[in-house]
Amino acid sequence: VASRTPLMAGNWKMNFNHLQAIAFVQKLAWTLKDVKHDFDDVEVAVFPPFTDIRSVQTITQADNLDVAYGAQDLSEHDSGAYTGDISGDFIATLGARYVLVGHSERRTIHGEGDDVCRAKVNAALRHGLVPVLCVGESLEEREATSNPAEVSIAQLKAGLADVKPGTDIVIAYEPVWAIGTGKVATAEQAQEVCAALRVALAEQLGDETAAATRILYGGSVKPDNVASIMREPDIDGALVGGASLSIEDFSSIIRYRS
Ligand code: G3P
Repeated sequence: VASRTPLMAGNWKMNFNHLQAIAFVQKLAWTLKDVKHDFDDVEVAVFPPFTDIRSVQTITQADNLDVAYGAQDLSEHDSGAYTGDISGDFIATLGARYVLVGHSERRTIHGEGDDVCRAKVNAALRHGLVPVLCVGESLEEREATSNPAEVSIAQLKAGLADVKPGTDIVIAYEPVWAIGTGKVATAEQAQEVCAALRVALAEQLGDETAAATRILYGGSVKPDNVASIMREPDIDGALVGGASLSIEDFSSIIRYRS
């Protein structure tokens, strides 16, 4: 059985300006230092807005903090006349390890389809970033099918169409109906889809890559439900929205075993 380092990631969405980000990361660092032994084997990451990334880099470097960070989106292009867009190169140059691709809020609010996600996954990889490809079904889609994994599998296959076996990627299963709603998927519901996603990964990239790839669950993860979700064999971490904006909640999510 491959061992996959659990990843606890906070997606700040459009919250915290860079001053608030500095204060938050400093406080998080203090909190985590006190309890380091509890989560030594857990990777922690934050996904701040673009304008905060430079500050997060400075704080994590200055304090030698073991907190990874990434961007919430990137352009599929590398440079040029794309007003308002941010290149993967700029993100990687700021020391980021990750970038989210295809978050449901990008898919629905900004109309990003599978082709755009595929191009963004490729752009992330061109710049040495690990893409965190987000997939998940809406409530209507869940109700319209007997296979709740169908939509997520299609999004995964399309987004990873050009990815080679052995590539470091992360998948986040975020059922749209559970995002920001307080309506968390049950551990069984989340496991069912994550297991199906691992089978799809194996079909596309081979057994070894599928066994090594982390699949996160996202959607109303809170301190009181994280432990049961993390007990599931195909769930390797959480992508946390609202609860990642609270030091208390995010640090107890990171310490989900205690
Ligand atoms: O990317 C994380 C996310 O969409 C889940 O948000 O607020 O339901 O934890 P939330």
